[in-house]
Amino acid sequence: MCERSIRRLKVSDLDACWKLDAATWNGSFWCRADYESELIRKESLVLGAFLDSHPGKPSVASHLAGLICVWTVLDEGHVLNLVVDTSWRSRGVGTALLVWAKEIAEHELGLAFLTLEVRAQNQGAVRLYERNGFHVVGRRKKYYHAPDDDAILMTWNIHNS
Ligand SMILES: CC(C)(COP(=O)(O)OP(=O)(O)OC[C@H]1O[C@@H](n2cnc3c(N)ncnc32)[C@H](O)[C@@H]1OP(=O)(O)O)[C@@H](O)C(=O)NCCC(=O)NCCS
Repeated sequence: MCERSIRRLKVSDLDACWKLDAATWNGSFWCRADYESELIRKESLVLGAFLDSHPGKPSVASHLAGLICVWTVLDEGHVLNLVVDTSWRSRGVGTALLVWAKEIAEHELGLAFLTLEVRAQNQGAVRLYERNGFHVVGRRKKYYHAPDDDAILMTWNIHNS
């Protein structure tokens, strides 16, 4: 049995973030320095979901199963990255990270809205965002490359949700 916990990530979690990224993408999504700058930047919210397969045994290191990074400026939050370890998908980890980020955005940071871009072909992610209150507000043609794809723009308006 596994226990899950979510907490803000720190610079000391850099190796785990990088390992998760490298294991997920075909080639990395972000470079190590990108993670480092987001972990340092005080306006960024970076949360990690940890799974502990040996609850009650603090000597056994828990495993970073997913992370979300939200970049904030004034009253806007932009979801830059949401990723879950391939072996832990479809168990609610991505949803839990998004729900936590929304809670903090609304109640701690006092943001007005969250925005994001997602590949049009990434229908699983689009569904996850829609289930969690995000609406499609636009589309950028051929925004992504390798492979080519449009970007779907989505927003969660905190005060009209
Ligand atoms: C998109 C992503 C973050 C989703 O993470 P996840 O942990 O699998 O998300 P969840 O488990 O919360 O929800 C995904 C699906 O699992 C289902 N699910 C959730 N909990 C479940 C459970 N306990 N049992 C069975 N299914 C479950 C959800 O209903 C959902 O179903 P859907 O495919 O019909 O939409 C993950 O697939 C990922 O890392 N993809 C690569 C990176 C990416 O594309 N990121 C998003 C764009 S930046």
